Amino acid sequence: MAEYTLVADKSGELRMDAAAKAERYEIVAEQVRATLEGERDLLAGMVSIVCLLHNAFPYYFWTGFYRRVAERMLLVGPYQGTMGCLWIPFERGVCGAAAREGKTIIVEDVHAFPGHIACDSASASEIVVPVWDAADRLIAVLDVDSTIPAAFDDVDREHLEAIVALLRGKEALPVVTA
Ligand code: SME
Repeated sequence: MAEYTLVADKSGELRMDAAAKAERYEIVAEQVRATLEGERDLLAGMVSIVCLLHNAFPYYFWTGFYRRVAERMLLVGPYQGTMGCLWIPFERGVCGAAAREGKTIIVEDVHAFPGHIACDSASASEIVVPVWDAADRLIAVLDVDSTIPAAFDDVDREHLEAIVALLRGKEALPVVTA
């Protein structure tokens, strides 16, 4: 599977223009579609999305889900990147705002966003995308942070919304031990 993962160089130029982003998102979306086809388990789906996205884009610094584990509470995971905050109430941060409002939020400068939660001071901008189940209930948000300001735009929004929609209908499978 290693050859399957697009791995971007995160040590050089991080910013991508709209055309380059769109081209790469199309490849990644196809990889996610192929990987998740026939896969019922939600966690396996989330992990695969995080892996394929985080590696493919140079400007992705922290990439992960916050799952809705109570009516108005999010819990981290799965993710890739530096240590994330564990619990985020709906009342706090960009993740909480996206969960509360049920819509994608793009923040060009996290330091100017009231109530932004700084899990890692290296983050400069972020996008948070709501994730819905088959019954249109919010089950998680996808949070991507970048160390460069204004890294995310409508190209990211459009493709990330389409990618997380591929999780619809998946569920936590029971563990069978015998
Ligand atoms: N910045 C987010 C918190 C999550 S981390 O950045 C990983 C927020 O304000 O919701």
